[in-house]
Amino acid sequence: MSGPKYSYASLANFGPQGRWRRVLLVAIVPMMCGFIFYVYHESFFPRAPHKSAHQSAVSAPPHAPADSIADKTRPLHRYPYQHNVSLPADDISMATVIKALYSPILHPVDAANFTDEDGEMHKLPGEPRFKEKLGKRVLVLDIDSRPLTGDGQLMNEELKWKGMRPLSAGMLSHFMFAQIHGYDYKFVRAPDYPDRWGTWVKVPMMKEALKTHDYIVFMDSDVMFHYPHLPLEWLLNYWNMSADTLAMMSIDPDEPQNYDSKGNRYLNTGFVIAQQSKRTQEMYKNWAECPSEVKYKGCANWKVAWAHEQAAFGNYIRYDYNRPDDIKVLPCVEANGAPEAVNRGGCKGTFVRHFWVDKGLLSKGLADSVMQYFLPRLHQMYHQEAAEHIVDKKGFKLVGADMVAMTEQEKEQMAKDAAKNQKDEGF
Ligand SMILES: *[C@@H]1O[C@H](CO)[C@@H](O)[C@H](O)[C@H]1NC(C)=O
Ligand SMILES: *[C@@H]1O[C@H](CO)[C@@H](O)[C@H](O)[C@H]1NC(C)=O
Ligand SMILES: *[C@@H]1O[C@H](CO)[C@@H](O)[C@H](O)[C@H]1NC(C)=O
Repeated sequence: MSGPKYSYASLANFGPQGRWRRVLLVAIVPMMCGFIFYVYHESFFPRAPHKSAHQSAVSAPPHAPADSIADKTRPLHRYPYQHNVSLPADDISMATVIKALYSPILHPVDAANFTDEDGEMHKLPGEPRFKEKLGKRVLVLDIDSRPLTGDGQLMNEELKWKGMRPLSAGMLSHFMFAQIHGYDYKFVRAPDYPDRWGTWVKVPMMKEALKTHDYIVFMDSDVMFHYPHLPLEWLLNYWNMSADTLAMMSIDPDEPQNYDSKGNRYLNTGFVIAQQSKRTQEMYKNWAECPSEVKYKGCANWKVAWAHEQAAFGNYIRYDYNRPDDIKVLPCVEANGAPEAVNRGGCKGTFVRHFWVDKGLLSKGLADSVMQYFLPRLHQMYHQEAAEHIVDKKGFKLVGADMVAMTEQEKEQMAKDAAKNQKDEGF
């Protein structure tokens, strides 16, 4: 088939789907107006003189108004950091939509702590090594040797929410994560090894990427970051990546199939953060050449036997790269599994989710990574405009088909009855 067409305009003329795409295009205008409306209220309330016609500012969502019901249930300081962000006023590109949603609440790369959605606080182990954004020095990397052009797959000319295949959700989330933080993103269509299982191609492709970028984040397409507003640099600080670290990977759950021949648990190669160095290149070379058995007797077994390149790394490579800082082992609870897998050794994927437990959860994961931010904003907008759409008819009583204003006496009685009912609460 011909290559995918990436231009939005050409997609809009695509045939039957063109119509709803156009609807989407049109719908995005009120959406942006929503943002700008919100912005207007937040940044310039009470009213201040108009800003220049070409810029509008977005500030972080403050906490809901004190009198709103939300305040009583929502944990405070959900987004402790609020940044003012400038948006081009007449730009409705997707890049601007993403910026409008995430930029106001980006967590600083050197923040001393991070509070997760369950209210648990995660503190840096010490002084942060990364204090500045790394930007394009970071590559977020997808690697696949399959065409992925079928229905619901990423390289198809069109993709709908309904019928989207799980791995499309994963790779789109990687792309979005890179967009949010200004990292590089690449999807590498990898050549195949004639005699090895497909996943082996990650090893030489990661090695190659480490020639152009200082840091790479490789994720299998069933892996995603749960908090896209939390920068990679913060996680590197939190996981204490040092100048000598070659790579970081998560340990696998404590289950019999996850042990190597020496009785140590495998590291999962579905999520790898690696740092450029001569020694890293050498490690990847040894890893990719492992099945040749020049250095590692028995490694050819893992060409096609499960767990392939992961078993090669687990059985051989890590024992050759065992200086204290070489390989940082990440806890399963933080960088592997998903809440639905918590009974598999507590691997609930606090920061990085790996949906081996059920690939069907990937599209929900992608939705989470948008809706956890979109919803508070929508809710806030709901309350900001409350005066216009919340209608209080409690001072009336219903008589047949009519609403009749209550007398003062009736109102007093109603207040008493309400108080009477409240006594029973909690008993
Ligand atoms: C954001 O902008 C508003 C309005 O101009 C200002 O009051 C506020 O201090 C700014 N906040 C930050 C963090 O710069
Ligand atoms: C968390 O970080 C913030 C901002 O750096 C700081 O003000 C706060 O004291 C920290 N909280 C704890 C418990 O360390
Ligand atoms: C972080 O890494 C450095 C360098 O290896 C080490 O000295 C330090 O003890 C580590 N800190 C923690 C909390 O693990």
